[in-house]
Amino acid sequence: MSGHRLVVAIDGPAASGKSSTAQWVARELGLLHADSGALYRAATAARLRRNGPADDWSEDSVLEAANRTCTIAPSGTTFRCLLDGEEAEEELRGEAVTAAVSRVARMPGVRQWVDAQLRELAKHHDLVVDGRDIGTAVFPDATLKIFLVADPWERARRRLVQRLERAPSDAEIAAETEQLVRRDVMDSTQTVKAVDAVLIDSTYLTQREQVERIVALARAVQGGP
Ligand code: DC
Repeated sequence: MSGHRLVVAIDGPAASGKSSTAQWVARELGLLHADSGALYRAATAARLRRNGPADDWSEDSVLEAANRTCTIAPSGTTFRCLLDGEEAEEELRGEAVTAAVSRVARMPGVRQWVDAQLRELAKHHDLVVDGRDIGTAVFPDATLKIFLVADPWERARRRLVQRLERAPSDAEIAAETEQLVRRDVMDSTQTVKAVDAVLIDSTYLTQREQVERIVALARAVQGGP
């Protein structure tokens, strides 16, 4: 007995388009979406909000802050992590959280805390969950597992287009690529392709094409047309 309902797991490295793809797939399939990275970000933001000793980044202090500060609430077809009861998307994506989150995500107790939240959601909802280890550690018996990759240069280019809302120069892409590859190294221990995950390389695919593939795979495993 898995103890959960239908789960589509989408894993892959930073800026591989997991979250936006996962949201779109969820809408197409009539499921709800949960972004596990947002939970690691919420735990990090919670610790940054609480004014304990600035250098006390012990696992206990992060968990205590997370338990006091974070709640998960449905918002349309996705779940959002609220901080002190309010939406805080900008804070979760901001520089301070991004700089500290890899360290927090390496704490075993924080990983257990995130996994427990996701498993609780999956007891009650059919989900598309995106992250790094969803198909390996969190839901090893997920209904469908996808591992989404793309060339680092292309990932950096896409991220910059989103951020700058214009075509970036090669020098800008090179600098962003360098940062991305460094983050890949920091997150590499937990970014694992399950042996039974379907690898999708999106370097030369549009987002619509990626979504269509995943939706078709999900329908195939459910025995649909
Ligand atoms: O995907 P993201 O950038 O929002 O992820 C934030 C951090 O959380 C990043 O350091 C990787 C980590 N993470 C993880 O370790 N396991 C997951 N399932 C999801 C994210």
